[in-house]
Amino acid sequence: MTALIIDTDPGVDDAFAIALACASPEVDLLGVTTVFGNVGLAMTTRNALRLLALYGREDVPVAAGADRPLVFPHPHRARTVHGRDGLSDLADTLPERETGLANTDAVSLMASLLDRATEPVTLVPIGPLTNIALLLAVHPSLTGKIERIVVMGGALAGGNVTAAAEFNLWSDPEAARRVLVEEEVPTVLVPTDLTVRCPVDTAWLDRLGASGPRGTALVALTSVYRQHYRKSLGRDGTVLHDAVAMAEAISPGLLKTTPLPLDIECGQGPGRGMVVADRRAPAVREELGVRGGRRVDVALDADLDTVREFLLER
Ligand code: BDR
Ligand code: CA
Repeated sequence: MTALIIDTDPGVDDAFAIALACASPEVDLLGVTTVFGNVGLAMTTRNALRLLALYGREDVPVAAGADRPLVFPHPHRARTVHGRDGLSDLADTLPERETGLANTDAVSLMASLLDRATEPVTLVPIGPLTNIALLLAVHPSLTGKIERIVVMGGALAGGNVTAAAEFNLWSDPEAARRVLVEEEVPTVLVPTDLTVRCPVDTAWLDRLGASGPRGTALVALTSVYRQHYRKSLGRDGTVLHDAVAMAEAISPGLLKTTPLPLDIECGQGPGRGMVVADRRAPAVREELGVRGGRRVDVALDADLDTVREFLLER
């Protein structure tokens, strides 16, 4: 079994990622925590609860976390991508979950789940990294319980929310720096460089929609989101960033990774939130006297048809 904690800001592709975890028999879903991001925290939390109700998971504890970045609050929301409510304006059509929020906050819930865990836990942050940075800062003694962190985020070559930066990392670059640069927990970064190479097309969405009521509901949630991706893809279809990262969390090695030293641009200029990946040859780095430092496994390649088939089959 793979013990998972999902930290999320649903979000249409978050809905697919949560669905994938719920549909995977080898996953022991310990908890779901929420963060601001695609929409404000109240909506991401409501969406997470309703998505778990849709997937029949009343048993999974849910707690709300950060409602803003660590240092510089900003008003940006991804309404044009995910709709005003984060789920293509269809959140109200989803069932209410009978089990409400856990009587605690996101960081405390993650800490107590890690503390009680009898096997190593994979954290899967698929929104801004604020909650994860706080967890690692406040509970350093628990890092030994984390098997790895599989992060959806970052762009090495051109962003989506700005020309340089990807949405999740741009939303809280200081938190991203803490998690991806300053900590030592084994981490996989799944950037948009890979996720945009793995779009799903109309035929894929039609097959999912025909698979049963949950598949139909998921495909319905793509309506606004799909309009956005029609512009970038130039055809119908969509990009399920968070689900691609979740696939790697569930099936380690599905994505091909390259260990790279990273830094995150935290200045206030046009590069804010950008990932700076050091791809110089080790011998060149040595010659220049560049310190070794921490490496993050960056997912830059995969057998894309295998990934799409994995998502659909689950
Ligand atoms: C990421 O940003 C959000 O809009 C998506 O849910 C995903 O986590 C992609 O850049
Ligand atoms: Ca997300």
